[in-house]
Amino acid sequence: MDMRPILFFDSGVGGLSIVGPARAALPEAPFVYAADSAGFPYGTKSEAEIAARVPVLLGRLAERYRPRLIVIACNTASTIALPVVRAALDLPVVGTVPAIKPAAVLSVTRTIGVLGTEATVRQAYVDDLAARFAGDCTVLRYGSAALVEMAEAKLHGRAVAPERYAKVLDGLFSQPGGDSIDVIVNACTHFPLVEAELAAAAPGVRFVDGGPGIARRIVYLVQGETWSGAGEGIAVFTRLGNDERALGRALAARGFGRIEQL
Ligand code: DGL
Repeated sequence: MDMRPILFFDSGVGGLSIVGPARAALPEAPFVYAADSAGFPYGTKSEAEIAARVPVLLGRLAERYRPRLIVIACNTASTIALPVVRAALDLPVVGTVPAIKPAAVLSVTRTIGVLGTEATVRQAYVDDLAARFAGDCTVLRYGSAALVEMAEAKLHGRAVAPERYAKVLDGLFSQPGGDSIDVIVNACTHFPLVEAELAAAAPGVRFVDGGPGIARRIVYLVQGETWSGAGEGIAVFTRLGNDERALGRALAARGFGRIEQL
């Protein structure tokens, strides 16, 4: 029996939006959820900081958990550090990149909003996706560190005023042409965790994210492999304090009954 897990990595709880569809597709697979709580948030960091930090952490995580596959469940880390991580590790690595392609398929107005972290929305990777898959669309971008914090607050069970979601979305809608946006890409894995709140603040707008596509990619990469049976999921943090322990219930509800520190 192959005991090796699939390891998901993010700065915080955002990667749980990728775990959801992956768990539905692979109910038997053992998962490890790794959050770089000591480095959170990533969205306000420089490219150099992220490119230096992520491969080192993933190397340590790979050594400890011996995963069969790593999923970088973070757009910021993926758009900046995916090539470096792939070069450093001798195992398959799946990245999370803004779901501009499915958004372009859905948009009727041909105006798409990309909501990510500040670091993600300034990446040339996003220019490239927009040019390749949404060449006939206007692609407006907005980076929000506040929305990352709001998603973390939700998972901690803390209330967030609904007006705060409208204020974030205004960062897209108030741009020239922004009133035509009919599809928004949740280009940060934290944001699907608050999709209901975002949708309530933007009636008629559709939201898309990378979760379903990543689940399909994982299934493709592990086809034919055996699993040791639904094992206990492990959540591992780079800093384990009260704030991380307070996530215990939310993590257990998603199959991560054990919490560890890296
Ligand atoms: N969840 C991450 C992403 O997808 C980053 C959030 C943060 O740490 O700023 O971009």
